[in-house]
Amino acid sequence: MAAIPILIDTDPGVDDAVAILVALASPELDVRAITAVAGNVPLDDTAHNARKVCELAGRLDVAVHAGCRKPLLRSQIFGKYASGGGLAGDTLPAPAMPLRPQHAVDVLVSELGRAARGEAEKITVCTLGPLTNLAVALAHSPSIVRGIEKIVVMGGAFAALGNRSIAAEFNMLADPHAARIVLASGAPIVLVPLDLTFQALATPPRLAAIRSLGNRVGEMVFKLLTYVDRSDVERFGMAGGPLHDPTVIGLLLRPDLYRGRPAFVDVECDSPLTLGHAVVDWEGRMGKVPNAMVMTDIDSDGFFVLLKERLGRF
Ligand code: BDR
Ligand code: CA
Repeated sequence: MAAIPILIDTDPGVDDAVAILVALASPELDVRAITAVAGNVPLDDTAHNARKVCELAGRLDVAVHAGCRKPLLRSQIFGKYASGGGLAGDTLPAPAMPLRPQHAVDVLVSELGRAARGEAEKITVCTLGPLTNLAVALAHSPSIVRGIEKIVVMGGAFAALGNRSIAAEFNMLADPHAARIVLASGAPIVLVPLDLTFQALATPPRLAAIRSLGNRVGEMVFKLLTYVDRSDVERFGMAGGPLHDPTVIGLLLRPDLYRGRPAFVDVECDSPLTLGHAVVDWEGRMGKVPNAMVMTDIDSDGFFVLLKERLGRF
């Protein structure tokens, strides 16, 4: 079977890094480009970190592009625990591979545009950070929506508490207006919210299993995941830190491990108190057509078996 063409829009970030590694280890996926966006850390750092991760994977051929520096309207925020440049200081060496000159938005417009015109296969867009790049691309060229196979978005929190504010998940809070544009775009959307990622916990035994792979990638992933602040464990009483972004890639590889259902979703853009909160209308009470498949559950043991197996391929 031909590999699924994907674009990864990302703000690495340790969990973004693990997601990129899993994607690059998977022959079922054809990573056409990695587009960086400001999020966990400023844009220069996310673009730098994305290249560090490609080099760790031995994939200097992957095109990494820098995108938007600021959110559309709101004042900029970064990840709460962004110290260490987003990737645990100098755990990974500085990259030698160059950043490609084209702007990330231009890459999204041209790649999705080719697919929209029927000149190439439709593309799955994986968004692992704030949705600024994709929203700007859709505003620039709305017709590119026809080139999108689906958008798999890590973002939102429904029954779960927010992680960056009481009511909001970080990727939605960092650029709620962009999230609203993407959700209203008409593209097929799969949403992977905190409610699901809070089930994918990097517990000490799971981290030890990754380290026991004995390869450099396993060792580095162990270091990255143990460097990050464990405040989720403290705040939410979890057995380990949630591994958010890799669940997006896992969904493409093993959809059978996930459950979800369609619903209409929108994001709060006005209230300072609940800015970035994702509202899901499970019962269709707003009378709106569902705009997303909202994933609710993951077989976390199966997911971590997949993760370990893929990281073991390096
Ligand atoms: C999301 O925010 C970032 O900190 C993570 O990389 C993930 O994409 C989780 O809320
Ligand atoms: Ca991220």
